[in-house]
Amino acid sequence: MGYSTDAKRNLIIVSNRLPLSVKRVDGAFESSLSSGGLVTALSGLTKSTQFRWFGWPGIEVKELQDQKEVLKSLEQHNASPIFLDSDLAHEHYNGFSNRILWPILHYQSGVLYDDTPWQAYKRVNELFADAIADAAESGTLIWVHDYHLMLLPELLRKRLQDRGKACAIGFSLHTPFPAGDFWRNLPVRKHLIEGLLSSDLIGFHTDEYKQNFIDTCASLLGAGTQIPNQIQYKNRLVCTDKFIVGIDPQKFADTLKTPEVQDRIKTLKERYKGMKVIVGVDRLDYIKGLTQKLKGFDSFLEDHPELRTKVVLIQVAVPSREDVKEYQELETELCTIAGKINGKHATPEGTPLLYMHRSVPFTELTALYSVADACLLTSTRDGMNLVSFEYVACQEQNHGVLVLSEFAGAATFMRDGSIPFHPANTTEMSEALFAALNLDDKERQRKFEFLWDFVTKNTSAKWGSTFIEKLSRRCSHSSAPC
Ligand code: ADP
Ligand code: G6P
Repeated sequence: MGYSTDAKRNLIIVSNRLPLSVKRVDGAFESSLSSGGLVTALSGLTKSTQFRWFGWPGIEVKELQDQKEVLKSLEQHNASPIFLDSDLAHEHYNGFSNRILWPILHYQSGVLYDDTPWQAYKRVNELFADAIADAAESGTLIWVHDYHLMLLPELLRKRLQDRGKACAIGFSLHTPFPAGDFWRNLPVRKHLIEGLLSSDLIGFHTDEYKQNFIDTCASLLGAGTQIPNQIQYKNRLVCTDKFIVGIDPQKFADTLKTPEVQDRIKTLKERYKGMKVIVGVDRLDYIKGLTQKLKGFDSFLEDHPELRTKVVLIQVAVPSREDVKEYQELETELCTIAGKINGKHATPEGTPLLYMHRSVPFTELTALYSVADACLLTSTRDGMNLVSFEYVACQEQNHGVLVLSEFAGAATFMRDGSIPFHPANTTEMSEALFAALNLDDKERQRKFEFLWDFVTKNTSAKWGSTFIEKLSRRCSHSSAPC
């Protein structure tokens, strides 16, 4: 069976989040670009690979006429919405995916398990399976993404078999996969793993996540894992691998050249003349270590009071998952800490911290990355962290320094080119920041070249084509070694 990704019908991508999120404004439907690393990585694939993208539009659309309108608006992006009733979507997305699974995947303690969200999670995975099994044809490659849809491979395989359709199913996880002992905390731990093991190929961001998963399959299910990268379970061979996700660096290079961004860079440089600019861009999420970041910056200002008027941290905290209690509480906490820091360190010349709790346009984001002397990323756990790649993509001229938590997946690959630190150690963070702002030119150049090479080689297009190629090979020879 041959697979050409040139024909749209031959590749289906499935994720909970579509590239555009739909909202109803004054009765009319409006769509805006979704944020997050998954959308960034998959959007970066669109130049080189054609596919149809299925997912939840982010809003309940009940009336048939309204559904047609949403379908039409997403059609131009090759996106197909899977409509969900709002209570069901709420329990699946906020309830199970983001209040139960997300914390477990990121090593947060305390299990909030409850049966209602779990039932909703199962139901949504079934509805996705129905829609994809209808849309797929024999020979279609189906690539499922992320923790919202871990049961989908199993549900989908059954439906495809019932309909006599032979398709390859791949799955990519965009979060860490925790060590087995941590995963065991989840009461439905086995169901989710079994759901994934109906895939032909499962991709992870790092070898560590991949190995944690393989070990869990062996210890929880007794699966055969003697051969590296292979899992033998219920007469099926499942391949696993690390696939380095990336961005489309050319998109940043092109945007940087536009007059709008060049003007903005000029204005920002004028505004911060004689100062060092540090940038941070994160979804407002506890895994991004924003509390730790602000505390670390506070320590830095205490350690170097002479720099209060010479340094500014511009922190963009993109609103995220605002219906989840933990995210609401974090937002309040961050506002309080930000206020305290400026109360303590502000001078008549200005405030050292600019904390923005809102989404910024892509052009503004690019300008900010470009003017910053350093980028500070403090994740306590993070699947990869594509912001680190984006900062590098915008620094070809200035060779700014990446100050990167050792707990971001990206640190696995970028350690030599960045200044690593432990995010909970405010002293270490303060020292890392000081070192970054005082790095000699030769070392700055060396580190930057390392990062530039990595970011421009490991693009989202390469990530996608490597995965798709391997998935199609798996399909042609499903019993061949991985
Ligand atoms: P995560 O996936 O956890 O949010 P990443 O760092 O991997 O973390 O990815 C975040 C992505 O969200 C980046 O590609 C970043 O550019 C993007 N982003 C940040 N702000 C916005 C915004 N206002 N609109 C759209 N995307 C945004
Ligand atoms: C992470 C997840 C993605 C998710 C993104 C944004 O990157 O791995 O699956 O899309 O965060 O979160 P959201 O809840 O807005 O989809």
